[in-house]
Amino acid sequence: MTKIVILTGAGISAESGIATFRASDGLWAQHRVEDVATPDAFARDPALVQGFYNMRRTDAAQAEPNAAHHALKRLADHVDLTLITQNVDGLHAKAGSHAIEMHGALRRGLCSQCGARWEQSGDMATPHPCPACTAPAGRPDIVWFGEIPYHMDDCMAAIQQADLFASIGTSAQVYPAAGFSNLAQDAGADLWEFNLDQTGAHFDHFVCGPATQTVPQWVDGIITSL
Ligand code: APR
Repeated sequence: MTKIVILTGAGISAESGIATFRASDGLWAQHRVEDVATPDAFARDPALVQGFYNMRRTDAAQAEPNAAHHALKRLADHVDLTLITQNVDGLHAKAGSHAIEMHGALRRGLCSQCGARWEQSGDMATPHPCPACTAPAGRPDIVWFGEIPYHMDDCMAAIQQADLFASIGTSAQVYPAAGFSNLAQDAGADLWEFNLDQTGAHFDHFVCGPATQTVPQWVDGIITSL
């Protein structure tokens, strides 16, 4: 069976109303990474960082998966698919997909003291007590800049076996995810990019357009060719 690995980024959720990062009106145009998305930022001003993620958690909770998320769920029912996402919005999970959430998830909290994780639906407080050990060490379960993404071994193992690798809605600027297409190329995979604009990374095929249109069409083509 063809082994497919798909990496998604903020662009797949844009049409669900979730802001991307690097658009001119994106999150990083309104907030400095160094202020809200690093361990140092959290140590310096936890209220600012919690506030940023509380806002994003609310947005994600109100958002619904779109046609592209649903199409990838359909695809998983027909092929050997490893779905990897950089997104923390949980929309793949809401669509019923199992996605490797390499940058964490807004819907979880993490205790930096004991390592416990929990479902976090509402705002996190400052400080936020860990429900397991009660230490005031709760933080969003988000991989910040300077931290190591989750489940890298699973990602690498899947990419090394991939016959086809597709990158959907990511600007391919943040490593290690930005290097996945090169690894997939080394593994001999056919490389596909879905985006509004070409990122400049090497791909064998570029499909231009909004993910809600391009992804379902591509998925349906694969399914009908099986
Ligand atoms: N359909 C397809 N692609 C889209 C759409 C859409 N409807 N809307 C936007 N895009 C594309 C943009 O052209 C851009 O290339 O999605 C990409 C979004 O890029 P970024 O905002 O940089 O998001 P992403 O690549 O996911 O960022 C990676 O950076 O700050 C970190 O941790 C954060 O996980 C994030 C990582």
